[in-house]
Amino acid sequence: MRNFCICILLQVYLIFFIFPACSSAYGNELEVLLKLKSAMTGPKGSGLEDWKDSSSPTAHCSFSGVSCDDDSRVVSLNVSYTPLYGFLPPDIGLLDRLVNLTISGDNLTGRLPMEMANLTSLKVFNISNNLFNGKFPGEIIVGMTELEVLDTYNNNFSGPLTTELVSLKNLRHLCLGGNYFSGPIPESYSEIQSLEFLGLNGNALTGKVPASLARLKNLKKMYLGYYNSFEGGIPPELGSLSSLQILDMASCNLHGEIPTSLGLLKNLDTLFLQVNRLTGHIPPELSGLVNLRGLDLSINELVGEIPESFSRLTNISLIHLFKNSLHGPIPSFIGDLPNLKVLQLWENNFTFELPVNLGRNGKLRELDVATNQLTGPIPRDLCKGGKLSTLILMENLFTGSIPEQLGDCKSLTKIRIRKNLLNGTIPAGILNLPLVYMIEVNDNNFSGELPSEISADALEILTLYNNSITGKIPPALGNLKNLQTLSLEMNRFSGELPSESFDLPKLSTINISANNLSGEIPSSIARCTSLSSIDFSRNNLSGEIPKEIAKLRILSTLNLSHNSLTDHIPYEMCGLTSLFTLDLSYNNLAGKVPSCVQFLIFHDSSFAGNPNLCSPSQVSCPPLLSPVQESGQARGKFFSPVLIVAIAPFVTALLLVPPRC
Ligand SMILES: *[C@@H]1O[C@H](CO)[C@@H](O)[C@H](O)[C@H]1NC(C)=O
Ligand SMILES: *[C@@H]1O[C@H](CO)[C@@H](O)[C@H](O)[C@H]1NC(C)=O
Ligand SMILES: *[C@@H]1O[C@H](CO)[C@@H](O)[C@H](O)[C@H]1NC(C)=O
Ligand SMILES: *[C@@H]1O[C@H](CO)[C@@H](O)[C@H](O)[C@H]1NC(C)=O
Ligand SMILES: *[C@@H]1O[C@H](CO)[C@@H](O)[C@H](O)[C@H]1NC(C)=O
Ligand SMILES: *[C@@H]1O[C@H](CO)[C@@H](O)[C@H](O)[C@H]1NC(C)=O
Ligand SMILES: *[C@@H]1O[C@H](CO)[C@@H](O)[C@H](O)[C@H]1NC(C)=O
Ligand SMILES: *[C@@H]1O[C@H](CO)[C@@H](O)[C@H](O)[C@H]1NC(C)=O
Ligand SMILES: *[C@@H]1O[C@H](CO)[C@@H](O)[C@H](O)[C@H]1NC(C)=O
Ligand SMILES: *[C@@H]1O[C@H](CO)[C@@H](O)[C@H](O)[C@H]1NC(C)=O
Ligand SMILES: *[C@@H]1O[C@H](CO)[C@@H](O)[C@H](O)[C@H]1NC(C)=O
Ligand SMILES: *[C@@H]1O[C@H](CO)[C@@H](O)[C@H](O)[C@H]1NC(C)=O
Repeated sequence: MRNFCICILLQVYLIFFIFPACSSAYGNELEVLLKLKSAMTGPKGSGLEDWKDSSSPTAHCSFSGVSCDDDSRVVSLNVSYTPLYGFLPPDIGLLDRLVNLTISGDNLTGRLPMEMANLTSLKVFNISNNLFNGKFPGEIIVGMTELEVLDTYNNNFSGPLTTELVSLKNLRHLCLGGNYFSGPIPESYSEIQSLEFLGLNGNALTGKVPASLARLKNLKKMYLGYYNSFEGGIPPELGSLSSLQILDMASCNLHGEIPTSLGLLKNLDTLFLQVNRLTGHIPPELSGLVNLRGLDLSINELVGEIPESFSRLTNISLIHLFKNSLHGPIPSFIGDLPNLKVLQLWENNFTFELPVNLGRNGKLRELDVATNQLTGPIPRDLCKGGKLSTLILMENLFTGSIPEQLGDCKSLTKIRIRKNLLNGTIPAGILNLPLVYMIEVNDNNFSGELPSEISADALEILTLYNNSITGKIPPALGNLKNLQTLSLEMNRFSGELPSESFDLPKLSTINISANNLSGEIPSSIARCTSLSSIDFSRNNLSGEIPKEIAKLRILSTLNLSHNSLTDHIPYEMCGLTSLFTLDLSYNNLAGKVPSCVQFLIFHDSSFAGNPNLCSPSQVSCPPLLSPVQESGQARGKFFSPVLIVAIAPFVTALLLVPPRC
């Protein structure tokens, strides 16, 4: 009887409470999602198109990004990279069975609603890449005892870092990076023993990096750098983070020495300490990082040599030590590291030769040792694996020639070897590499001729100046359709300028000054419509200045001085309205300098050394000078033609108006 009663009661209870509760829950959650939609889509109203009202009690479970449990309650919501413009409404607090909440990359703004405190089943709370702002409301998180992932990366939160999350016993992944959080890292973060990922990078944090973080024994990845500005240095205690794989403390104002204890991090894969003010030597103990693949200590104040013990770092693939004050040799073991892909050592004081084995591992992609005092030859096997893309050896004391092998290195995109003591012929292959966009070999002592076959389609910058290159300028230069800068000056080029080479629509600067070139300036130069600077000075060019040059609408610098050009200056050049610097001096030009406004800005020195040329200010010139020309004391380089254009009508008007009195 008593059992029966209970049974009846239970049924009544079920009928009156559970069912209505359930059915209203169906209705509620559809309604709640529609409220979410209208708040989140904001005034522009796009996104979540398939979230529509329906009479079906389970319709909302098939909304995109929504999944439900067996009771048709929403357990997972994932709205990522949808263009939304609104905010997160308080109604979200009603979806209290939510386990996974990912609302990422949606441009949502405003504050997080306090009602989220109701979401006590949450395991994943991911609101990364939005514009949420204000203080992060720690209160909403205290009750989320199941929480494993909190990702607020790249929002607009400010104020101190939340300490409420310290009580969360399951928190594995904590990312608060990319916000405006300020103040110190709370000591209490060392209590989140479950933590595997800690991302506080890209905030405005200050104070010391707490040594107590060393207690996070499960921590695998720690990002503290960028925009943060800490006091003091790297706590030596961090050497006991035995699970650590990634330590990134770049660009956060670290001082002092690199603690030797970091060498204990047997599992470390990546050590990024670049752009700080670290001093002292590179600790040889770092050779204990047997799993290290990426080491970046660049842009610090480190001194001393590369430790010999680093030969044990056989897994290393990236070494950045640039912009320090390191010296000594680049040890030969560097050439034997089996996995090395990137070696950047520029702006140090390294001396001696590059390891002869460099590149023989077949994996080298980037080599930059610029601005050191390295000597000896360029190692021949740098591109053995066919992967070398960046080769920067500039501003050293390298001798010998460019290894022929580099001419077959199809992967090369950048070759910068200027300012060395290199000689020999430039390998023909170099000018036929399919991907290369920059070749800087200037300021060496290369000799021989350029190859007649040239097909480096991607080439944008070619600087060969200040070498001893001989022979003709190859017509095949005209194949370089992407060429923007061509610098051949100060060599021993001879012969005529091939008219075929001037079909370069992107060419902006050409300098062939100080060679032995002869013949006429090809009128085809007019096809290089992007030219803004031409320097053909100090050659033996003859004939007349082609009037087609006037088609170069953006030409601002033209230097044809110290040649043997004859005849008149073409009047068409008056149309070169962008021309700012003109030098035609020391030729055999004759006749009169065109009398147009454009030419008024040029000083007499632009025309000097042409005995038969009548420059504008020459008093003894034959007659027929225009009035504007006669008025010319102020015909300096900086005399604005605009001013003249503006004044001339005014003066004329004055002359026409009859005197008043
Ligand atoms: C939550 O997401 C995780 C993966 O991040 C997944 O394994 C789990 O099944 C999801 N849970 C629910 C309830 O959707
Ligand atoms: C969320 O959806 C995006 C695509 O919209 C997908 O790339 C991502 O993996 C999803 N995340 C989860 C946790 O399901
Ligand atoms: C977010 O806003 C920025 C700037 O207004 C815009 O460039 C970006 O495309 C937006 N993202 C989405 C997903 O709408
Ligand atoms: C929290 O959840 C309860 C039960 O589902 C609900 O009655 C209440 O309105 C929710 N509170 C907020 C602030 O959403
Ligand atoms: C958060 O969501 C974004 C977008 O789906 C994803 O790229 C990111 O990995 C997620 N964060 C975590 C910790 O899973
Ligand atoms: C984000 O915060 C920064 C700095 O406080 C501010 O300049 C910017 O306008 C904010 N953007 C939004 C969308 O709130
Ligand atoms: C190098 O990496 C491999 C896996 O990539 C690993 O098995 C090995 O133990 C690592 N350490 C050394 C010293 O080779
Ligand atoms: C290289 O050494 C010279 C002389 O010892 C010194 O003046 C210079 O600052 C050093 N350069 C760098 C980058 O350390
Ligand atoms: C290059 O210079 C070296 C001296 O550094 C010299 O022995 C060699 O003959 C030169 N080679 C050429 C081709 O000029
Ligand atoms: C030409 O290059 C050499 C070698 O780099 C250099 O010493 C010399 O100063 C350079 N000449 C000019 C005029 O720049
Ligand atoms: C450069 O090379 C040329 C020809 O190979 C030679 O005559 C000249 O002396 C060399 N100049 C220097 C500075 O080595
Ligand atoms: C062309 O090269 C010479 C020699 O290096 C240099 O003096 C001149 O300024 C360059 N011309 C232009 C227009 O830059």
